[in-house]
Amino acid sequence: MKENNPTMSRRNFLTVSGAIAGTTIIDPKSKIFANSAIDMRENTRKTRIALVGTGVRGIGMWGNSVVRDYGDYIEFVGLCDKNPGRLETGRQMIGVDCPTFADFEQMMRQAKPQVLIVTTDDDTHDYFIEKGMEMGADIICEKPMAIDEKKIQRIIDAEKRTGRKCRVTFNYRYSPHRAKIWEILRSGEIGKLTSVDFHWYLDTSHGADYFRRWHRLEEKGGSLWVHKASHHFDLLNWWIGSDPESVYALGSLEFYGKNGPFRADNCRNCPHTKECNFYWDITRNERLKQLYVDNEKYDGYYRDGCVFRNDINIYDKMAATIKYMNGVQVSYSLTTYSPYEGYRIAFNGTGGRMDAWIQESKPTSDANYDEIVVFRNFGKREYIQIPQGSGHGGGDKLLKDQIFIPNTKDPLRQAAEVRDGALSCLVGIAARKSIASKEPVMIKSLSSLIPQENKL
Ligand SMILES: NC(=O)c1ccc[n+]([C@@H]2O[C@H](COP(=O)([O-])OP(=O)(O)OC[C@H]3O[C@@H](n4cnc5c(N)ncnc54)[C@H](O)[C@@H]3O)[C@@H](O)[C@H]2O)c1
Repeated sequence: MKENNPTMSRRNFLTVSGAIAGTTIIDPKSKIFANSAIDMRENTRKTRIALVGTGVRGIGMWGNSVVRDYGDYIEFVGLCDKNPGRLETGRQMIGVDCPTFADFEQMMRQAKPQVLIVTTDDDTHDYFIEKGMEMGADIICEKPMAIDEKKIQRIIDAEKRTGRKCRVTFNYRYSPHRAKIWEILRSGEIGKLTSVDFHWYLDTSHGADYFRRWHRLEEKGGSLWVHKASHHFDLLNWWIGSDPESVYALGSLEFYGKNGPFRADNCRNCPHTKECNFYWDITRNERLKQLYVDNEKYDGYYRDGCVFRNDINIYDKMAATIKYMNGVQVSYSLTTYSPYEGYRIAFNGTGGRMDAWIQESKPTSDANYDEIVVFRNFGKREYIQIPQGSGHGGGDKLLKDQIFIPNTKDPLRQAAEVRDGALSCLVGIAARKSIASKEPVMIKSLSSLIPQENKL
């Protein structure tokens, strides 16, 4: 049953604090979606939450830490996973005694959650978002929202049809370093923004891990153009404050997959462990062993797959030129076999330039801060140091505070909705199509969304 409030303007919707905006209007009993329109003192019931996908992200980011830190506001009423072993292990790791379900629709019918958290493989997100909305829940979905343009359209249509809301959890927006960049861009320090150079490096540990798992298949994760780079494209969309207009891209697979000197199905069954730099013994990590190795018997999924398997069909080297509706040009690249993990970014403006970088792995110094440098044309440079946080640069905790603690404000517009989730993925989808066609691809050609020059 849905009730839309015609008095809820788009402006109100965007300025509502971190909760899934509009939800209080739909269901005033839900505490975590409260905003100023509801008197919290009359609102004593906890929000009923269900989660589908009890893998490492579901359990860690959206499971046990949520129970521990936000138990005053929420209660888990159901967990679902297609792997029965991981479902039970996940329930124990989250530390709840709510019912578990192999059948998603049965969970929705019996547990009647107000909010559904979606942390399954990327290719399934659209189904759970659409069905979850149809069966009466608002949605919190991990990125990427969906892996192709048809699935994105399905979500846009479902939201419109049901009046439910979907929040996409872009934790990258919440790191204090990136939030500071957003503020500096809006302060006018570097004049009018004209172009951005953005280069992201995944290392031979984390980067390689994408090629071990389901992410290695385009049909599962949309390739790293969507699975990983949608994080980066969302940052660009948010920082630039305009929608992407067109994308021209290049990409190839020339390190992992068929390029390897030898291969096996997975590391535990491999005859080349002594000579392979990528050999990884998953059984030394007790948590991953319990979640994945011990449950292979149910679905045959290897969490420690060989990075040189012949079926790998995603790019490991990517570059794109993105044009924004407000004229800003972006030069972007993603490399997946770097000796260190991190990124470098530069914002060029008519009044100066801002440089920022993060080196996440193997730091070269013991500094406990990240830096931003603002250069002013014909003027002085300024070094700004931001204290480092843990959990995606401190972003994970701030994101959850904003979602689960009622009435948390959103002054930096970090709360992301379906439109943001869609546009972040559409840049990556356009990049894939551009590589195939060798032509630039217009974002407006991909869905019913009409790119705008200026966001609010
Ligand atoms: N924001 C971030 O920084 C971040 C970090 C890690 C993962 N993620 C996202 O979280 C999601 C989960 O990632 P993960 O690393 O936990 O993956 P995972 O493979 O460890 O877990 C996914 C779980 O979903 C289950 N599943 C898949 N299809 C299902 C279906 N049809 N019905 C029921 N269960 C199903 C699997 O059995 C598995 O337990 C992904 O979308 C990923 O992109 C986001």
